[in-house]
Amino acid sequence: MEKEIYPSTSRRLRSNAHIRSLVSPILLSHQSFILPIFVEENLNNPRPIKSMESVMVHNVDSILSFIEEGIKSGVSKFLLFPIPSEKKEVPDDFTFAIKVVSKIKSTFGNNIWLATDVCLCSYTTHGHCGIMDQSHTQVLNEPSVKLLASYSNMLAAAGADCLAPSDMMDGRVKAIRNSLAISGLDNKIIMSYSAKFSSQWYGPFRDACHSSPQGTILSDRKSYQLSPFNLEEAVQCAERDAVEGADILMVKPAGHYTDVISVVKQKTGKPVAAYHVSGEYSSIEIMAERGIIDRDKAHLEVWAALQRSGSDIIISYAAIHAKTWIEQYEY
Ligand code: PBG
Ligand code: ZN
Repeated sequence: MEKEIYPSTSRRLRSNAHIRSLVSPILLSHQSFILPIFVEENLNNPRPIKSMESVMVHNVDSILSFIEEGIKSGVSKFLLFPIPSEKKEVPDDFTFAIKVVSKIKSTFGNNIWLATDVCLCSYTTHGHCGIMDQSHTQVLNEPSVKLLASYSNMLAAAGADCLAPSDMMDGRVKAIRNSLAISGLDNKIIMSYSAKFSSQWYGPFRDACHSSPQGTILSDRKSYQLSPFNLEEAVQCAERDAVEGADILMVKPAGHYTDVISVVKQKTGKPVAAYHVSGEYSSIEIMAERGIIDRDKAHLEVWAALQRSGSDIIISYAAIHAKTWIEQYEY
């Protein structure tokens, strides 16, 4: 019998860790990661988030030592979620968020890059991401955008390097860009939650921020967040945000939306960030706790999938481990 000569797609290129890493079209780097951080007003002691207990909500003091710990672990980019203690029908007091941003930036300066979430849902009594009409049947676009733009300006002036609007109102990127320009803050990055879907995977996050929509009439976010059934609309929102002046386009959740990541990357050519959200994170953690999967390797596998699909940036609650895991494990 003649000896078989295998073509180049043979197991030769998978036969050991050296050749696997040499031929790998993507390599992960901890430099691509952003770590979300939560800071609550009037919180005496840091508290673990229900259903995501490996992640803490911090107070203004403990956040500084947590960031310090992050820096030691190789994290230099953070996404801040400020949680004010008082909620209102129409938010008018952003002093807590401003205080946190300036405290963090005055402590760490340019050793870190600080993005701040820009939304109203942790500020409103009804838990929606914008201002509502009197009968609570809808979220009003125009007044919400105005408020989000002035809030963004305050955060930028306080030292935030990046504004990350997550509200999904129309025209907010343009409004934020304009308002930053007027204040001479045009060097600030806008990382827009462009393709943010109305998703089940935000559950643990809403526990952290007490930000679930409360309304009996309008009890979900479907009138502003995207439908998981509609790829085209998501891509158009991302293209629109790019035109309006967003520097980075985000897709969220990430793992079930890798098709969206690919198309957004191909169509816009912009930097794309994938947000592996709280529910996605905790489903790995919970399965690992039950011994069903290996936690570290499961996170790495998801990160590879996100980068393979076209994301440049990964936002993950496990980002603090990225450097260690990437160095430790072979693919
Ligand atoms: C609020 C906001 C949410 C997340 C980020 N910003 C939740 C929501 O829209 O209800 C989700 C983050 C996560 O689940 O990790 N605008
Ligand atoms: Zn919101």
